Amino acid sequence: MSTTSTGLAGSTDLASAAGLVLEDRYLTLPPSIGTSAFHYVWLRDNCWCAECRVAQSGERRLFTADIREDIAPLAAEVDAQRVVRVAWNDGHSSTYTAAWLSAYSYSDPGRREQPHEPRLWDAGLSEVPTFAHDHVVGTAAGQLAYLEAVRDLGVALVRGTPARDGEVARFAETMGHVRETAFERIHNVRHDPTGYNVAHTPMELKPHTDLPSYHWPPSVQLLHFLVNDAEGGESTITDGWAILADLRRDDPTAFDTLARVPVGFQLFSDTEDTYAQAPMIQLDTAGRVVTFRFSNQLVQPVDAPFGEMEAFYDAYRTLGRLIDGDRYKVAFKTSGGDLLTVHGHRVLHGRLPFDPASGGRHLQDVYMEYDDLMARRRVLLGEHKPLSAQAGA
Ligand code: OGA
Ligand code: ZN
Ligand code: ZN
Repeated sequence: MSTTSTGLAGSTDLASAAGLVLEDRYLTLPPSIGTSAFHYVWLRDNCWCAECRVAQSGERRLFTADIREDIAPLAAEVDAQRVVRVAWNDGHSSTYTAAWLSAYSYSDPGRREQPHEPRLWDAGLSEVPTFAHDHVVGTAAGQLAYLEAVRDLGVALVRGTPARDGEVARFAETMGHVRETAFERIHNVRHDPTGYNVAHTPMELKPHTDLPSYHWPPSVQLLHFLVNDAEGGESTITDGWAILADLRRDDPTAFDTLARVPVGFQLFSDTEDTYAQAPMIQLDTAGRVVTFRFSNQLVQPVDAPFGEMEAFYDAYRTLGRLIDGDRYKVAFKTSGGDLLTVHGHRVLHGRLPFDPASGGRHLQDVYMEYDDLMARRRVLLGEHKPLSAQAGA
């Protein structure tokens, strides 16, 4: 923008007259805009003029580190349209709309954006959120409802997905992208006496997360049942974050141990290998659980310090018994055409044993990334484009 200081309040007194107060390092706005304070460096950094931003993408052209340390207004005012206009001591001019300032105000801690609170559940979950395939792939409302379930509960069941080879990847691509791994893009799970891993036996698969052997395990998993006529083989789902919330409350030492001791996980084939070392519980900087990995079958010899080894096993035993008990696990039988989605860093999945002589059982799975699904949600809601601060934008 090419605004000059003409028309701008030329002194602190004039700024005050409009209710805008220029302090040494920040300004405060009049109640007509919202009583908020903004640092000069922050305002200058967030100039939305064409020189400082790419208008269509909102990407910053201004290199933040180039803002001078003593950046401050020479003059500032609030105009009749409630636009804050600032003439800076670096020769630049900026405008900020009231709507933009209100949306990004940070001086009141009560207004800080709260992270989404997941709805934790246990064996009492009344119903796995269930959707009709055509509703999810054919309508924005259906897709949004499915995405909200994945966001809140970490699980969704889609019924009536055509029981065709590869359909699970087509479903994924209506919403996001398949996360490729070292193994097949579309992974077949069925009984195979020559099969490669435990999933190909008729054995129970205890609740687990897939591919903890990546430092970033796939964060979403889709399991599409093409046929499920065998006796047994019920699916299980378990809210790992609910278990961890209870463990943290009831046995904080066990929780801390599992959040601290790195564990090696490996899954390999003749030609591929995946290996990662990470604690089973990973926290963000605010201490919230973000990634939970649990796969009894893939744990490698634990390499904890000698003095901590038994404490590790005590914690792991406590966790394993919670995971394998009845308090948290939900079991249900799927049919051909059912497509189960789980949040791979939160919800564990498993299956009960089945009798391969009694009927067919075949599922295909693909992985996705939770970020892509949440991005899809924001796009459907029309929330993904940032507001411009620029007057008249
Ligand atoms: C797997 C798996 C579930 C099932 O292959 O990792 O969890 O129902 N399979 O067979
Ligand atoms: Zn600018
Ligand atoms: Zn699995």
